[in-house]
Amino acid sequence: MTGPDFDHFCRLIRQRSGLVVTPEKAYLVASRLSPLARSEGMANVEALLATIRKSSPEALIQRCVDAMATHESYFFRDATPFEQLAANVLPPMIEARQTQRSLRVWCAACSSGQEPYSVAMILQEMGPRLAGWKLEVLATDMSEPILQKAREGVYNDFEVKRGLSPERQARWFKPVPDGWKVSSVLQQMVQFRPHNLLQGTTGMGMFDIIFCRNVLIYFDVEHKRQILEQIGRAMPSDGALFLGSAETVLGVTTAIESTPGVRGLYRKAGIHMAKSA
Ligand SMILES: C[S@@+](CC[C@H](N)C(=O)[O-])C[C@H]1O[C@@H](n2cnc3c(N)ncnc32)[C@H](O)[C@@H]1O
Repeated sequence: MTGPDFDHFCRLIRQRSGLVVTPEKAYLVASRLSPLARSEGMANVEALLATIRKSSPEALIQRCVDAMATHESYFFRDATPFEQLAANVLPPMIEARQTQRSLRVWCAACSSGQEPYSVAMILQEMGPRLAGWKLEVLATDMSEPILQKAREGVYNDFEVKRGLSPERQARWFKPVPDGWKVSSVLQQMVQFRPHNLLQGTTGMGMFDIIFCRNVLIYFDVEHKRQILEQIGRAMPSDGALFLGSAETVLGVTTAIESTPGVRGLYRKAGIHMAKSA
């Protein structure tokens, strides 16, 4: 699949979401958009791309952007960030915030909610150390359908077993006819809201901890730099940023630094935190 309709579509997807689609990824466009083309009664993906170029139907464009995004997620993905959060990030933050007794966490590109609910479990499991604190977990994604699933907080057997220990499953989920529903305690902690990372962070306030994992990997360097620098400005000096295990700031920005010896944990540049174990 090549030609002006395909090129137009690639530009559109990059503008709307940051996702880089190149001609080598034509197979991905074909496989992701085929079901959508069928459901729209179109002969094939080529017809869908031609319609988009010809008449720019907004609702259809939005469905294409959603279809092109990868929504893969699971509870406690990669384990280490959540272990770091509990063992090395939260304790000094709690110490430093004894007066204000509040913490704000942002899960950017949260997909179907497993990441923010994992964060909420960790916060709850801190027990008396955070009792009576104002805890806010803001979870955002550009895709409204995936946010709807996240808000419902219902996961099937496969999803609930992916990353969750039996103890956590028993403690934080209850069986419902369609699977397992996350407890109301966790649901009340997490606020889901639509947000496109390309729109920046103006008006969102400051976040002590930010998770932005497994999304920048799909973007070009310029978008990565812009987003990482905005994220850096949205964190206080002791703020913590978690990126995905395949993501890096190297060659992208000097505003954010990795934490030596701790994969996935980043800080604002020039601020030296006590070394994590
Ligand atoms: C692979 S999932 C990552 C989910 C979770 N962070 C994790 O690591 O398990 C990527 C998510 O990024 C979202 N996304 C892609 N581009 C985005 C953008 N420009 N703004 C906000 N969300 C975006 C997609 O809708 C998708 O749900």
